[in-house]
Amino acid sequence: MNIQQVGVVGCGLMGSGIGQVCAQSGYQVVVREANSELLAKGTGRIEKFLQAGVEKGKVTEAQKREALSRIRGTTSLDDLAACDLVIEAVTENVELKREVFATLDRICKPEALLASNTSSVCIAEMSGVTKRPSQVLGMHFFNPVPLMKLVEVVRALTTSDATVSAGMGFVRSLGKTPILAKDTPGFVVNLLLVPYLLDAVRALERGVASVEDIDQGMVLGCGYPMGPLTLLDFVGIDTTYYIANILFDEFKETRYAAPTLMKRMVLAGHHGRKTGKGFYDYPGK
Ligand code: CAA
Repeated sequence: MNIQQVGVVGCGLMGSGIGQVCAQSGYQVVVREANSELLAKGTGRIEKFLQAGVEKGKVTEAQKREALSRIRGTTSLDDLAACDLVIEAVTENVELKREVFATLDRICKPEALLASNTSSVCIAEMSGVTKRPSQVLGMHFFNPVPLMKLVEVVRALTTSDATVSAGMGFVRSLGKTPILAKDTPGFVVNLLLVPYLLDAVRALERGVASVEDIDQGMVLGCGYPMGPLTLLDFVGIDTTYYIANILFDEFKETRYAAPTLMKRMVLAGHHGRKTGKGFYDYPGK
């Protein structure tokens, strides 16, 4: 499959990053948001990231301009009709995702591939509402998308070999490394990462060490780029809580059970960096 034009549904943290890397890799990109305010926020985030890249000497001014010129924003899904591949990156809400896939299936050309960036919803939920289940796959990017090298390509029961191989090739064309995973909760990374993050919260609850010392332990003792509690603030405590609940529902193993403190923080609106408070404070957010 010759992919030239890529559609991205949702221009939040993940969707804007995906749109950006596709444009930087030479693809024509159409990003869709639900309204013009969210669209302006999303495309503004792309501009800001590229500008920061220019200031760090990682991106030239010309590359920035070229990438931005390849991105078209819209609030209508109909504008994705000509795309060869559409990547869905809306919020982790099954009903919303099913609705998006049903609509995309209706408007996109028959040969187009439909991918989901979901980290927690099974791909079968989305492929099941389309008439092209062999052309539906998972394409799970990591945050921050422009910097993280990995993408999990997820094969659902119905995904064809041709779709998997097109997906793997596409990820490589973005300069990223794909790994192939089955359509099971958490795929590879969250299956291993989430229990580790939950254990860090349990360690804090038990008074094993302070927030700072738990983080220092894993940064300096294991060479991780961020400590687990910093990473939780970065990914979103609410997002991790949501994924943990999905893993627990599926496997019924206590290692996936969200700790008491985590639930209380989510209910209190302490979701991490995005709300200005998590395990650390982020004044000004
Ligand atoms: N444009 C281009 N390059 C940029 C850039 C920009 N705007 N901003 C930074 N960079 C480059 C930097 O120049 C640097 O490159 P070099 O290594 O070649 O010098 C590199 O990107 C790292 O940038 P920084 O030095 O500014 O930042 P850092 O070293 O503090 O790293 C980080 C930041 C990449 C976020 C790092 O802390 C990290 O890897 N953290 C862990 C993130 C993680 O685990 N993410 C996964 C979350 S889980 C998830 O997403 C799954 C899910 O489903 C929930």
